[in-house]
Amino acid sequence: MLKPTIGIDNIAFSTSKYFLDMGDLAFARHQDRNKYYCGIMQEKMAVIPPCEDVVTLGCSAAEKVVKSIDKFEIKLLVFATESGVDESKSGGIYLHKFLRLSEECRTFEVKQACYGGTAALFIAYDFVNLNPDKKALVVMSDVARYGLKSIGEPTQGGGAIALIISANPKMAIINPKTSVFSKEIVDFWRPIGYDYALVNGALSSKRYLASLKKCYDSFVKINNISFDYFCYHVPFCKMALKGHSLLFGDTPFEKTTISYNKLIGNCYTASLYISLISLLDNSEDLKDKNIGMYSYGSGSVAELFSLKIVDGYKNYLDKTENRNFIENRIRLNVDEYEEMYNTWGQKNIEYQGYQTSGNLYLRGIIEDIRKYEIKHG
Ligand code: HMG
Repeated sequence: MLKPTIGIDNIAFSTSKYFLDMGDLAFARHQDRNKYYCGIMQEKMAVIPPCEDVVTLGCSAAEKVVKSIDKFEIKLLVFATESGVDESKSGGIYLHKFLRLSEECRTFEVKQACYGGTAALFIAYDFVNLNPDKKALVVMSDVARYGLKSIGEPTQGGGAIALIISANPKMAIINPKTSVFSKEIVDFWRPIGYDYALVNGALSSKRYLASLKKCYDSFVKINNISFDYFCYHVPFCKMALKGHSLLFGDTPFEKTTISYNKLIGNCYTASLYISLISLLDNSEDLKDKNIGMYSYGSGSVAELFSLKIVDGYKNYLDKTENRNFIENRIRLNVDEYEEMYNTWGQKNIEYQGYQTSGNLYLRGIIEDIRKYEIKHG
């Protein structure tokens, strides 16, 4: 019997209702605005209000992909994050509750910096390969925070991706012949107790590129595929451009792969997949096209894989809704951004008066217990 294909049956993203324009940040930090607009190629970055975290952002994205399927078919939920809300409990178990998934759904969290999302994807792939009658929900959700006025500050952001992985997928087939490169290094890390990451920026960029080259050279040895498009992990847009130049020289870089990333900023685990949704939403018909996917997680693990786009995928995209959400966000000034940054994660206060990405929000962290609520109306 012919084995079914396995891949992405549906995809959606979420991000904060608030953003900061990079020109405003540059002015406040006494930098040339072109360093941010052109040097790192970022126009705006998402700012995460106190009432949002990886659980609420993940739930906003996941609600969109589960609404059109029989939720009982989802028997695996893998939640990938590197900015999790608990040292022990999975962020996924909150989603399991709020999405009302089956009690027979295996639920857990995975971590390896930004690579965690791709690790989750391939756990889901293997699960569906063994159980083609079942579906898996993969949620990648992160709040990218560095210190205020730190070197990483202009490369913050936040958001989430939700994917349904199934047999005979409606959007993209995953090619399981991937190439991986793992090597322990100290380029980016978040010690226990810190709510922001520490980074060696120059080393991280160097390793991103070196791992890309390693993965690419191994990938082409085991696959006979020519890429029509290439999506990269996008910590900031210039990094993807540098990766592209390294692999393909002067071959034009496809700007639709960063249309959303340049307005949202880094989303760690979700960034590569926000690049994918950005390409899908903003390109002509991609039917039968091969997409290269480069995942890099500091610390470090990298993996290169490919997707083949399925005929009819466009019927399942929410292009207008995605664009409207991004265009209708609220612009903060730098004082408002700093206040949000400083209030985020504060305990024993009520987070009131903020707009949210979806229906679930965090009312507060009261005596170390996170109090989530659903919006009414
Ligand atoms: P920096 O030192 O502030 O900036 O750090 P810079 O001096 O390197 O300048 C940046 C670029 O702007 C340079 O371009 C400058 O020439 C240019 P490049 O030479 O690189 O092409 N520039 C200008 N351009 C136009 N007009 C001007 C101007 N001035 C300068 N006036 C850095 C920048 C990104 C390193 C910093 O923000 C940082 O450390 N960010 C966080 C780390 C990061 O994002 N690393 C990326 C690779 S690691 C990764 O992707 C994993 C990650 O997502 C985490 C995870 O896995 O969990 C981060």
